[in-house]
Amino acid sequence: MPLKWTGPRQFSIDPRSPACYLDPYTIYQELHSVPGPVYWNDYGLWCLTDYEQVDSTLKSSAFARLPSNQQQPSYPAHLQHFARVEKHSLLALEAPHHTRLRRSLNRSFVAKEMNKLAPFIQQHANACIDELMQQGSAELLQDYAAPIPVRVIAGMLGVPPEESQQLLDWSHTMVKVYTLTQNKDDELAADNAAHEFDQRLQRLINEKRKLPSDDLLSSWIHEHELSDEEMISLAILLLNAGHEATVHQLGNAINLLIEHPEHQALLMESDKQADAVVAEALRFDPPLHLFTRYAQNDIDIGNGVKLKQDEQIALLLASANRDPERFGHADQFIPTRSDGATLALGAGTHFCVGAYLSKLELRIALQVLFKRLPNLALQSPTQYKDSFHFHGLDKLQVTW
Ligand code: HEM
Repeated sequence: MPLKWTGPRQFSIDPRSPACYLDPYTIYQELHSVPGPVYWNDYGLWCLTDYEQVDSTLKSSAFARLPSNQQQPSYPAHLQHFARVEKHSLLALEAPHHTRLRRSLNRSFVAKEMNKLAPFIQQHANACIDELMQQGSAELLQDYAAPIPVRVIAGMLGVPPEESQQLLDWSHTMVKVYTLTQNKDDELAADNAAHEFDQRLQRLINEKRKLPSDDLLSSWIHEHELSDEEMISLAILLLNAGHEATVHQLGNAINLLIEHPEHQALLMESDKQADAVVAEALRFDPPLHLFTRYAQNDIDIGNGVKLKQDEQIALLLASANRDPERFGHADQFIPTRSDGATLALGAGTHFCVGAYLSKLELRIALQVLFKRLPNLALQSPTQYKDSFHFHGLDKLQVTW
């Protein structure tokens, strides 16, 4: 077992070690063998691993995304542009600022609005397969999973589709700063990407102020009266929070269904059954494993562990999804299960804005793929990439 217990409820494992990023679930099994919280030496953080603990902490006002005395995230001087676009990020705010900005998004992301995007998602997924069809093989992360979510978000925002690749380049460079293990070169690149992204969105906002159309930027300008800085933060957040996670999750779900061909038929049976496949894939192998919160006061978190005010705590969402107390046969992929919601999309105030959208994209993308390419097989063994925080495949090379 690569995880080492170094004291009572204290363990060590390097998050950059292959044992951790290739198979975090074996580690979670071990963590579930002791009553939490558990202390992760390498991060210097108490961690919650059980479903009930993670769920109640996400929903508790005793914890927030920032320390109690901080209104905004603070970044070093070399991240000044990054700091500017993060200033109004929903993920960095709490009520009342969070409530106001979140309200301006919620209406656009309700099921009724999202369902209107279904034909576009379907058309785009089919167009990707049309292009690949004759090849007989492809790397599906790049050729299928990546183009779909970015086109959807770009379309919703009102960014021209031909700029999708540029958006992705900025996003990939920026999201490295969200992990707990970045380096200075990554940070400088992220700051530069934030600056360019900021400037591009500012020009777009100026255009839409004069000539509004049917998109989010226009509605923020004309209906919600958000400031330019707020709109830029929200737009960047939608792409950064929404794109990468959906790409990884689509890759993880395709991989699971290739490994379990007996469940592929469920995708075609009905949209409801297909939704259940998507939900179970999100429980079983989600893309985002760790989020943190700060205690807003001194607080007892159980089993005699006390956090000081402003102490940070890690919430292991993917471990909670495998909690044997919460899910029967937690370590098996069972798309027909009916034991309820998972924490892959969070819970409480910061619950994922794109929850419905991402599940819709995943369902349609899986249905189109397995319908059009029913003989899909792995061309080479898959491997997860070197990132504990963004749990996704390095490559998904397939043949049909
Ligand atoms: C499978 C794909 C996705 C996963 C697994 C995912 C997961 C999550 C999780 C766990 C959170 C909560 C973070 C926390 O509590 O600290 C979150 C928040 C968020 N997500 Fe997603 N997400 C996905 C797709 C999307 C999409 C497609 C969008 C938008 C287009 C999106 C936009 C957001 C935003 C804006 C927040 C912040 C909400 C707030 O702070 O109020 N996500 N997501």
